[in-house]
Parts: sequence; C-alpha cells; structure tokens
Amino acid sequence: MKRVMHFQLFVSLATLLAAAMLAGAEIHNGKMDDVILADFEQATYGDWSTVGTAFGTEPAHGALPGQMPVSGFLGNGLVNSFHGGDAATGSLTSRPFLINRSVINFLVSGGRHPGETGLRLVINGVTVRTTTGTDSERLDWASWDVQTLEGKTARIEIFDKAVGGWGHINVDQIILSDTRKAPVIMKDVLYAETYRPQFHFSAKKNWLNDPNGLVYYQGEYHLFFQHNPDGINWGNMTWGHAVSPDLVHWTQLEHALLPDKLGTMFSGSAVVDWHNTSGFGTAAEPPIVAMYTAAGGTNPESKGEPFTQCIAYSTDKGRTFTKYDHNPVVPHIAAENRDPKLIWFAPTRTWVMALYLDKEDYALFTSPDLKGWKQIQTVTMPGASECPDFFPISVQGEKTRKWILTGANGHYLVGDFDGAQFKSEPGFTPQIADNGANYYAVQSYSDIPSADGRRIQIAWMNGGRYPEMPFNQQMSFPCELTLHRLPDGLRLYRYPVKEIRGLYDSAVTYESISLSPGINAFEKNESIKGRELDIDLEFEPGTATELVLSVRGELIIYNCKEQTISFLGKSSHLEPANGKVQLRVLIDRTTIELFGNGGRVSMSSCFVPSPENHDVSLTASGAPIKLPSIKVHTLKSAWQGVH
Ligand code: FRU
Repeated sequence: MKRVMHFQLFVSLATLLAAAMLAGAEIHNGKMDDVILADFEQATYGDWSTVGTAFGTEPAHGALPGQMPVSGFLGNGLVNSFHGGDAATGSLTSRPFLINRSVINFLVSGGRHPGETGLRLVINGVTVRTTTGTDSERLDWASWDVQTLEGKTARIEIFDKAVGGWGHINVDQIILSDTRKAPVIMKDVLYAETYRPQFHFSAKKNWLNDPNGLVYYQGEYHLFFQHNPDGINWGNMTWGHAVSPDLVHWTQLEHALLPDKLGTMFSGSAVVDWHNTSGFGTAAEPPIVAMYTAAGGTNPESKGEPFTQCIAYSTDKGRTFTKYDHNPVVPHIAAENRDPKLIWFAPTRTWVMALYLDKEDYALFTSPDLKGWKQIQTVTMPGASECPDFFPISVQGEKTRKWILTGANGHYLVGDFDGAQFKSEPGFTPQIADNGANYYAVQSYSDIPSADGRRIQIAWMNGGRYPEMPFNQQMSFPCELTLHRLPDGLRLYRYPVKEIRGLYDSAVTYESISLSPGINAFEKNESIKGRELDIDLEFEPGTATELVLSVRGELIIYNCKEQTISFLGKSSHLEPANGKVQLRVLIDRTTIELFGNGGRVSMSSCFVPSPENHDVSLTASGAPIKLPSIKVHTLKSAWQGVH
C-alpha cells in the first residue's frame, strides 16, 4: 500500500515537473515560481512604452521634486507619475504577456481616482481588471485574481489622467504568482461579507443545496432548502427554512426537518392541503404538508434503512412540522429513489406526485389523502436525473394548457396529463431551460394564487465558489416560467420576477445611441461601478463584429456573425428578433444571470470577481452598434437591516 502511494506521488510530481519545464518555469515545494513582470530596477523602462509626460522616461528612485516621501517600494526603482507634479498626465504600457499564473500581485499607491489614476489589465482592448491608488505615498500590495484568464495574452497599462490633488500613481513589483500578496478584503458583518450575494438567497452560514418545499401560504413564500447545519460542505441533510413576502427579502427561520432514524432529510416539496384531505388540519385552517425523502443509511441512526418517501405537516404557517406517525408513506422502490414533488389535480380531486427512481427514470403516483400512494406511470427523460417537477402551464396567447415534467438540470418534456397518464408531445426531445454553468435542482412554487397564474422557479446555483465565506452556495434569482409556441415547437422561457423592482436604487437610461467601436457606453457612469445591477438593453447587431459587456473582469460577448452569446465558459444561440437582440443581465457579487429575448435564452452562472475590480463597460467592435435603449438599475441589498 505504502509503495503504491510513493509511486503515485512520484508520478504526479514528475508530471508536474515536466509540465513546469515545458512552460519554462521552475517548481519549488510543489509551487510554480513567481514570474516577475517588472521590478523597475533598470535604468530605463525597457520594453514598456510611455505616452505623455507624467511617467518621465525612466523609473524613479523614490519621491520626485515637490512630492511627499514615497515608501514601501522594493529595491531602488519604481514607477512614479509625479514627473511634472500632479498636473502631468500620461500612461506606461507593458508589452503583451501570457497570463500563466492565477494571481497578479503589485505594489501600488498614489491618487485614489477610479478610472483616472491606476493600473489596468487589458485583453483584446477590454479592461478586465483595474485598481486605483490609495491617496497615500506608501505602496502596498494589491492582487488581481486572474485564474479565469489563464492562457490569455494581456497588457498592463499604468495610467494617470488626473490633474488635480493626488493626480499621480506609484507602482512597483508586478508579479505573476499563484499566491495572493494582498489579503482578501473581508467585511465580517453578517450578510455584507465580500462574496455574500446581495439579492440572492444564501444560508446565514454553512452549506446549502436544493430548494425544497416551495409553497406560498397566507402572504408568505416559503423556501426550504437542503442544509448542512454543521458544516461548510455537503452533509447531515436537514431542511433549512426561510420566508419572504416578495421573493426578494428573506428571513431565515429555525430548521424545519431534522434527520431521524429513517435517514437524513433529502429533497422534496410542500403543498397547502386546502380541503384537509390528510386530516392533519381543518378545512378552515388547512395544513401545509411537506413530502421528503428519508435517505436511509446516511446517518448512524438509519443504518441499513433504504431511501423512502415520508410526509410531515404544519398547522402554524410552517413554523413547526410534525412528522407523520406512519412514515414512510411510499416504500423503497429502486436504488436511491428520491425527491417527491406534489401537485393537486383538481379535475379528479387527487394528489399527484412525481418521484425520481434511478438513472433517467421518473414515476408518477396518485393519492386521495397524501398518505396512501399508487404508482400510475414511469417516464424516462433522456439526459435528466433527480428532482422532478410536474406542473400545468398555458401556452402564451392560446387557451391550450400543457403539462411540463422537468429534471434537476431543468431539462424538460412538454405534454398532456389527464390524471392517469402523462403523454409527451409526439417527437418531443427534452429541452434545456437554462444553459448557464450553475443551474440545478430546479423547483417551482406550489399554491401561488391562481388568479395570478404565475409559475415561479428557483434553482440551486450549484458549484459556485465563495472563498473564505461563512456560507457556501446560493439560490438562483426566482424566475417566472412561460410557455411559447415557436416554429421549432413548445419552449419554456425564464425571466426574473418583477419583484426585483423593489430593490431598484438609482437608474441610468439611454435611448437611441450609436456606439462606435472602442467607446465605452458606461465611461461616465461611475455610479454603477462595483454595484449589484439589473441591466436591460436592446441592440441591433447590424454589421458589427461583437457587443461586449464587461462586468468586473468577466466578458459577456455577443458575436454578431455567429449570433451567439457567451460568458463564463458557456455559449447560447440567440438570434435577433426583428433585427434586434434584447439582453437582461442581473449582476450580484458572485453571479451573472442573463436572459436573451425575453427569456428565450436563460443562462445562470457564478463567478468570483476580484474584490478590487469594480469596472463595468459596454463596447462595440467592427462597426457601430445601434442601441434603441439601455436601462441600468443599481440594486439595494435585500439584506439591509437583517442580522
Ligand atoms: C440534488 C440531490 C437530490 C437529493 C439532494 C441531497 O442535488 O442530489 O437528488 O435529494 O440533492 O442533498
């Protein structure tokens, strides 16, 4: 055993070394050596080029005439744009270099004027990272996280456009590295932490995954969720609980369902039993009934138990739940069968439950009382597994009503259901509801008042990263689903719920602008930098090459020739409709959710922006792009006043 391990260690180290040698770098203690891009120790700027007068012709050796003492730089030389005092302007730009480490560290001080004094990292003409000075002459370490940019060729531009007080910048030691020199800025106030989503739900602390038991009752949207009360990673599955009056402001309550001798509490759903078919409440005060999977064998108390389906009820608006005495109500059927989703089928006054069985197989069940269940059908959905959802929805502009069956990844079938059988549309292959990088375990709300008729879906944004945060993972922003008849067939659209307007702070709007290549439409909009945003714009791709929305270093690119929208490693086809493309983009601290043409395209993705990069820009390339309208709203935090 030991020998095998040594051998494996040897092989992996050897592979690492070979890779490092290929890259022309050295490796020490398992880490790649830093690459010093510039230390400004030479007599000249070498292959860096200057424009204007502020940077002089060579590195400085401390303070320049008229400047306060400059400290914190390493060695003798540094970049100092005080040549000619604060009034002088100019820039100093590196040659192109390959980003081959995950971090760029540098020392910086001088004027704090975002956009006017500072350094920027530029890829293909677009600023992807930027940092300004600190209104101090003492250089300190700053770091850009460039992991997602590795393999790209970039330039660094040090710029000084400011002419007034503190109109200069000092820089030294620009180093490509795998280790941050600057500490991650962490505000440890609850709900204000560096990577805490500001208008998406995350657990107060610890791990979260699937949304569970989404149900509306007496003015409250309930959001139960897979939660680990004891750790930052998955485990000890328990139903966490939060409520909201508007799908935007959430209050986290006590845990609703705790592990027991049948297992830990896996995913499931909840309904209001309006007719008290279960007898757990009264018709005047109907119970909320939750159905969940007891994951037998996942805690010591349930050793040897299989996965079964159980129910629990609440008669106090979901504040406490009582588990049914005769659980489980559905015995073990197959493998790790799980994730029951309930719906009331009014025409036959029956409960219907969709359950995940195994592989790509789901089953439908019926019950008169939520306690006794009969399997009526199995349905295979290629490409899907786990977390079914099953609900009716009207086709937009028609009287037709269809039924949708979804899997955890949001893949869906459209068909008809008569209370006994679900029949998929002839020839319908499962469709993808969202093509982002972080969209999973989708579920829609039960019991939203029918006059309203909304079908609202929340997903777990699985796989997001939240370095050094007290919580892990977040939910997607709630989206309304609508069904549309297109030439290709029936398709679900996703679009953010209108309640987001309750968070609108300031607004920047433009009408009918023509954006020339190289111009940033948001150049003058300092107020939107680094903020949570709701962007809604329409453009005519015309003969341009690309429209690029750059958000805190991430590029959202519409390729006008290919008619694709791409960001964070995912790409979707998005054709103009009547010559125009509409883009709605929600930006939170760690997410970009994009909706194209009213929700025809939906892409939910997570990212880890560098805390210092606050840039937002909108640029065209190839030819000018006409934008009939741009609306940008900054958003207030949904956690204001929540502790
Ligand atoms: C989906 C899932 C479910 C299961 C739950 C456990 O993400 O695997 O199938 O019930 O998570 O946490």
